[in-house]
Amino acid sequence: MTKDWINVAAVGAGRIFQDAHRKAYTNAASTNYVVIALCDIRKDLVEDQLKALKKEYDRLLGKAKKKEKGAQVERLKFGLDHLKAFTDFGKMLDAVEGNCDLVDNCTPGRTHVPLSVQAMEHGYHAMAEKPPGMNWWDVKRLVDAERRTGKCFQLNENVCYERPVQAMRRVIAEGHLGAVVEIDVHFGHGGPYVPYHFSEAGLPHFIDPLWSGGGCLQDLAPHGISRAFWPVGPGARVVSCTTKLLERRQSPRVMSGKPFDNKLDDYAEADLEMWDPRTKRPFSMKVTTSWCGGFAFPFSIEGERGTMSIGQDPVKKAYTPVIFADEGDEYFPLDEDDWDLLDSHAREVQVYCDNLLHGRPSNTPAEYALRLQECISIQYYSKLAKRKVAAEEMEKWAEGIAAGHPSYQDGVDEIARALTGAVDQKSPDSG
Ligand SMILES: NC(=O)c1ccc[n+]([C@@H]2O[C@H](COP(=O)([O-])OP(=O)(O)OC[C@H]3O[C@@H](n4cnc5c(N)ncnc54)[C@H](O)[C@@H]3O)[C@@H](O)[C@H]2O)c1
Repeated sequence: MTKDWINVAAVGAGRIFQDAHRKAYTNAASTNYVVIALCDIRKDLVEDQLKALKKEYDRLLGKAKKKEKGAQVERLKFGLDHLKAFTDFGKMLDAVEGNCDLVDNCTPGRTHVPLSVQAMEHGYHAMAEKPPGMNWWDVKRLVDAERRTGKCFQLNENVCYERPVQAMRRVIAEGHLGAVVEIDVHFGHGGPYVPYHFSEAGLPHFIDPLWSGGGCLQDLAPHGISRAFWPVGPGARVVSCTTKLLERRQSPRVMSGKPFDNKLDDYAEADLEMWDPRTKRPFSMKVTTSWCGGFAFPFSIEGERGTMSIGQDPVKKAYTPVIFADEGDEYFPLDEDDWDLLDSHAREVQVYCDNLLHGRPSNTPAEYALRLQECISIQYYSKLAKRKVAAEEMEKWAEGIAAGHPSYQDGVDEIARALTGAVDQKSPDSG
């Protein structure tokens, strides 16, 4: 390890930045990175957020000095000496050259891939919020950028950094569950809030097909699926899909108390056939996603030796992986590490920076972002085709579309329009 900490430049100072990332930067266990630059197209927002971050770093610096923590004093002083606000992403990337290691992308879905690729081409590692991209055709660019630039990408799908979820991956890799047979995923809530960013069409980015790539599937399935799919291990992927429901049930969509015209999915049900390269066995994954309310049981992973979920260990009282089996239930311990015990948004950055400092890639790299996005995009594609579809078919379909567009982004956009156009408009005003 040649460095003690990672220098971060962040883009997007809206809701997820304020609610989660800014808190992660100043989390007590975030000793391995510091923010040196912040960008948002909104000047008022970026200046306000810079002020708040500086204030918090000043407080932490005072504490570190009092406790004579030399390394932390050095890290925080470096951050405070460099911390600057930008309204132009390209200008920020140029300005931080020589100092920056990693770009944190908290912008809406449409810019997750393009801005992350731009950062990697500039020589920085990158990480971006969920969803991985507009669709899987978009996300392929991240895999390509990792290969071309030698830089790392991380999908900030925070549920993969919850300690019980991390422990489930270990338990499965150690063979305690046997081969995975069937995953059941149910994930929902009442729908998104009104964010800062509105599209050219005057819609909150979450419900504009060309800013989000889809509705509840794009917004929530990354969380729901990841909790059970990421633990299966690297390389697991979708083979085929039958979408049973993909519909818009509520119209207008009420977001933060305000009504909006939404044509995107707010309820979806699909059966996916999957492949696990570890066991060289197929398994099935049933996914239900909703912006029309939540579900009591978020997920289960059925294996040859029982059914795994997360439960409260009756002795240790902690929430840990548990396998329910005929021979008796078995609770497994969590991994011990140096990072925040509960805040998965802080953990995802802490773990990534630790990996980077030790020359390791992310635990949720571009390849995972692509495999996850395939599981989502294929649900739209099956609805569009009105039948069971294979992943290879979806690939060929996109190749045909992309061939008609010299610009890769135009191909991504046409695919997004086609996939989201498949949503059934169920509510009475559907016309
Ligand atoms: N992991 C989670 O639990 C979680 C929770 C909420 C949101 N999110 C995700 O975070 C992303 C952002 O959501 P949000 O609610 O913060 O949205 P938001 O609109 O509140 O914030 C996005 C910010 O990005 C800025 N921006 C847009 N394009 C930009 C560009 N080219 N350069 C610089 N700044 C730009 C906007 O001005 C805005 O301030 C979404 O993809 C969303 O799905 C994740």
